[in-house]
Amino acid sequence: MLDLDQAIRERRSTRMFLSRPVPRELIDEALALAQHAPSNSNTQPWHLVFASAARRDRLTAALLHAARSAAPDIPTLPKEFQHYRRELGAQVYGAMGIPITDTAGHAAAVLRNWEFFKAPMAGIVCMHHDLGLIDAVGVGMFLQTLLLALTERGIGSCVEVSVTGYPEIIRTQLSIPADYLILCGLAVGYPDPEFPANRLEIAREQAKDHVVFLDL
Ligand SMILES: Cc1cc2nc3c(=O)[nH]c(=O)nc-3n(C[C@H](O)[C@H](O)[C@H](O)COP(=O)(O)O)c2cc1C
Repeated sequence: MLDLDQAIRERRSTRMFLSRPVPRELIDEALALAQHAPSNSNTQPWHLVFASAARRDRLTAALLHAARSAAPDIPTLPKEFQHYRRELGAQVYGAMGIPITDTAGHAAAVLRNWEFFKAPMAGIVCMHHDLGLIDAVGVGMFLQTLLLALTERGIGSCVEVSVTGYPEIIRTQLSIPADYLILCGLAVGYPDPEFPANRLEIAREQAKDHVVFLDL
């Protein structure tokens, strides 16, 4: 078992998974830990749907079909934040040996988002539509706790906004009722150690660039 600091440092987004299934008891342990996350009035606003085996295959086939036919409906980043995506893309696709000028290679790599990077477990994170931004904070706390508990157990993950670009397909394939908002996807499985982009350590800015201490 990793200690907390180590799990925080070692968690990273996995973008190629092995087909090896994840034992259900490990998922259940991680979920039980994540249930300890704080939330507004203890509403525990998270709702997670996991598809594996045949259900996962049907979901990813439908999403891939959609992604090949029409652009996803994903919120665009405001201009002043777009450089983060460009820098990340350069690192991830660079590690995969895809130059920025290789449009076809880039498009093929992006499509892998909709197959959950071959993860055996395709998750969808939801929240009731009557809840608000503050409750989405609670869902985020649950999600990070879950990711750390999975990391501690040697299990990789990738949170994915991309898959939410086709919400009606997700609703239909996973029978998600209309009163749940679809927030993001969550790929879960064992990381492929041979995939270079799985070893990337994406740099962070310093805490001092994001936190202000005022005492006068
Ligand atoms: C809300 C959210 C949405 C994300 N969506 C995607 C996505 O659609 N595709 C992807 O490859 N990574 C996605 N990521 C992973 C981020 O790119 C990643 O967390 C970030 O670049 C930092 O890298 P690290 O997770 O390896 O530390 C997402 C992460 C979060 C928290």
